[in-house]
Amino acid sequence: MATSTETTTPYETTVDPERLEAAAGHVFGELGVNCTAPLVVLGDRLGLFRALAGAGPLTPVALADRTGLVERYVREWLRGVAVAGYLDYDPEADTFTLTDAYAAVLADDESPTALIGVFPGLAALWADLDRIEGFFRTGGGMGWGEHHPALGQAQERFTRPAYVHGLIGAWIPAVEGAVPRLEAGAEVADIGCGYGLSSILIAQRWPHSTVTGFDPDDAAVAHARAAAAEAGLDGRAAFEVADAAGFPGHGYDLITFTDSLHDMGDPVAAAAHARAALAPDGAVLVVEPLAADRFADDFANPYARIGYAISTLVCTPSSLAQTGAAALGTMAGEARLREVLAAGGFTRVRRVAQDSAPLNILLEARP
Ligand SMILES: C[S@@+](CC[C@H](N)C(=O)[O-])C[C@H]1O[C@@H](n2cnc3c(N)ncnc32)[C@H](O)[C@@H]1O
Repeated sequence: MATSTETTTPYETTVDPERLEAAAGHVFGELGVNCTAPLVVLGDRLGLFRALAGAGPLTPVALADRTGLVERYVREWLRGVAVAGYLDYDPEADTFTLTDAYAAVLADDESPTALIGVFPGLAALWADLDRIEGFFRTGGGMGWGEHHPALGQAQERFTRPAYVHGLIGAWIPAVEGAVPRLEAGAEVADIGCGYGLSSILIAQRWPHSTVTGFDPDDAAVAHARAAAAEAGLDGRAAFEVADAAGFPGHGYDLITFTDSLHDMGDPVAAAAHARAALAPDGAVLVVEPLAADRFADDFANPYARIGYAISTLVCTPSSLAQTGAAALGTMAGEARLREVLAAGGFTRVRRVAQDSAPLNILLEARP
């Protein structure tokens, strides 16, 4: 092997050293967050968070015993998750504790603050990155159904707490006149229903009503049909492959767009079609991610970081794959959404009341 006598020149920079250190420290910290994510997925898959929840302080041996897992791996995992700040550590006893607060985020899918379901979906963002890179060069995009299946699964799991507690518990009830209609027996259309969770929850909560979910992704529709059958909904939650601009039926009392309008190529055509499909006095409920009207104001928005990433990697490609290619983006904001609804023929649009820590914009629209 040849040896070199050349000396390396020291790297020279004119950047202020304090600023340089701050920038490197910031990005280094972010790298840590990213490296923790696979550990969180393992904690979920292997039942480690659930075993820690409510158990009090546990040694690695005790947790390995409870889960039937290999202690050496469990110990390393515990240390990784503890230095991330998700577990409390007692150095005297060498024990790790998942506090009730963190358990409500990481160990309980039914909790209103559950976030654990998002983590497995991150795998899809990595898996599909080559295609997204290509779209930056060539244009075009890809639909939800073309992504790694972890994406749809994460969407369903992540939105469950928001839909159980928000959509069913608060948002639909806040739509004027919706509850009496649903209690009496309403026809509901759920546009861009994905795995069908919102449709199924509506049908379960209001047993005299019938919900039809529409989505162009046939795998999602198949999943939704299976979920409705498993829930024993007896035909009250049906699903069809259809685009928002052409779904069948009319005379719907309520039409919902749950986190779907911004994914569409032609959201104005979707809005116009929904308006034409409404019953007299029927209403549309649009659920969209929380976003500011001015990008500069999104720096203070707790959802913005996730929202712009998902927008770049999933929602903008979804719209750009379709006719119209409006590409509203996940972070369209209320003013832009109102423009779309107005262009679709809605003259009365109002912001529906929100819970205390809103992550959504809710708009009730009427012709
Ligand atoms: C973010 S997911 C939301 C799924 C579900 N509503 C939920 O809240 O979990 C967006 C959905 O919109 C659907 N979608 C995209 N373009 C559409 C279109 N033109 N018409 C109807 N649905 C569409 C996608 O296939 C995807 O299932």
